[in-house]
Amino acid sequence: MSRVKIAFLVFAGILIIMQLIPLNQTNPPVVQNVAAPVLISEILKTSCYDCHSNETIWPWYSRIAPGSFLITRDVKMGRQHLNFSEFSDLDSFDSTDIADDLIEVLEAGDMPVIQYLLLHPSASLRDSESQALLQWVETLYPE
Ligand code: HEC
Repeated sequence: MSRVKIAFLVFAGILIIMQLIPLNQTNPPVVQNVAAPVLISEILKTSCYDCHSNETIWPWYSRIAPGSFLITRDVKMGRQHLNFSEFSDLDSFDSTDIADDLIEVLEAGDMPVIQYLLLHPSASLRDSESQALLQWVETLYPE
């Protein structure tokens, strides 16, 4: 067998084995959904919920390695930072922290993350939507 063939078989074998590695792509129960006006929750659902809630939509390609590793990691880390499905669990110290983080990412236009936008262009926040979210965050935690 030629080296190219062997290399190809090894590569194909690794890809197949990768598919067998179990990943935690589950949606835990919604504990306490964030209370927000309809317009705000629509924006959050469209642009943020796939990584910041327990209502993630896992598309078919999220099940295929190696992309599945990256997607699972984004959801895991996203939920750790901010979970709109477990919003009441935050004590007041955490909440002001979260508010600061939210204001920061919204002002910088950092969210949703770019790799997500490539596959979900409609999740991109329009200026008016960022503004609406910012105003909402300010009403959440008035100083
Ligand atoms: C594709 C997954 C994904 C989507 C969609 C997404 N985020 Fe995130 N978000 C992450 C990840 C991963 C992190 C943690 C790592 C990081 O900071 O990049 C994060 C972190 C954050 C943080 C914490 C930042 C910090 O400094 O600690 C905030 C706030 C946030 N996201 C808000 C949002 C908002 C608001 C939306 C919707 C407009 C959104 N995210 C959409 C994946 C996502």
